[in-house]
Amino acid sequence: MSWLVLGFESSCDETGVALVQTQEGGAPPRLLGQALHSQVAMHADYGGVVPELASRDHIRRVLPLTHEVLAQSGRALTEVDVVAFTRGPGLAGALLVGAGVACALAAALDRPVLGVHHLEGHLLSPFLSADPPEFPFVALLVSGGHTQLMRVDGVGYYELLGETIDDAAGEAFDKSAKLLGLGYPGGPALARLADFGDATAYALPRPLLHSGDLNFSFAGLKTAVLTQARKLEGLPCEQPRADLAASTQAAIVEVLVKKSLKALAATGLRRLVVAGGVGANQQLRADLNRACARQGVRVHYPELALCTDNGAMIALAAAMRLQAGAGQASRDYAFDVRPR
Ligand code: KG4
Ligand code: ZN
Repeated sequence: MSWLVLGFESSCDETGVALVQTQEGGAPPRLLGQALHSQVAMHADYGGVVPELASRDHIRRVLPLTHEVLAQSGRALTEVDVVAFTRGPGLAGALLVGAGVACALAAALDRPVLGVHHLEGHLLSPFLSADPPEFPFVALLVSGGHTQLMRVDGVGYYELLGETIDDAAGEAFDKSAKLLGLGYPGGPALARLADFGDATAYALPRPLLHSGDLNFSFAGLKTAVLTQARKLEGLPCEQPRADLAASTQAAIVEVLVKKSLKALAATGLRRLVVAGGVGANQQLRADLNRACARQGVRVHYPELALCTDNGAMIALAAAMRLQAGAGQASRDYAFDVRPR
């Protein structure tokens, strides 16, 4: 039997809706349609996400996007078997939009709902790629709010191996970008500027690189970037800024690559899955691919468009949970969200 799962993502500044179908024989669910609206342009003037504006925009977008997804997939709303939404973490008001709409639709259709952990969505997103991973694997989860290494033995079988003790990798990108006077979101902007810079120009710290555990720390890097950025203020030449961007990216990427290799060595696993917004970073991908090829490790990424937040990963995670018997959808429509 196969199910149609409609999923909603609204934890931050992207409204995502998608429809997936579970497959017979243990194959990963298939994506039938997805639609996404990014609020990046709306928040850019403020230099970051304004929660109230985010919630209002999710409300404006979510139903038109749902219609778009159904039209794309050639399916009717009444054919949906389960409705899924991001329960958290994220902005409370933003999460409530997706949860509220999902539960209202499910109640109207008399279908069960399933709340999904946002990070589980990221973690499983490579299963929608043309080259899906197999369990078990090590996962490097690098988003704006999280940096974690995990051992993943199956859907719902996640063991935390290490995580950041302060800022997330995406946060390090974003905060450094801000110090360099780059816009929001900072990660992609810093990566673009880094293309023109010399990554060896500045010796920036690689915190916890030799700590012996699998934890990360990026707060000290931000302080070091601040010190260097201050010296560049008022300089007429762009090159030092590009050099600082490239050096910052190199510091973050080196730590992520080395710690991932350590996690692979510690677990004895030979598969690595990279997920979350920072997984879109081309330098990270190039360095990880090279390092892992040397060790005979296969690396899996989500498709580029599915690295950052989207509805497909939420519908997928719900479908995989149901398939694995690891999650129970319910007709309890008294929904809640878990911002933290
Ligand atoms: O996973 P995501 O969309 O949202 C969270 O759940 O946090 O990740 C967003 C983060 C932001 O910090 C953004 O700057 C970063 O991912 N990011 C990048 C790139 N694309 C997105 N960082 C570095 N290079 C990129 N190309
Ligand atoms: Zn995310």
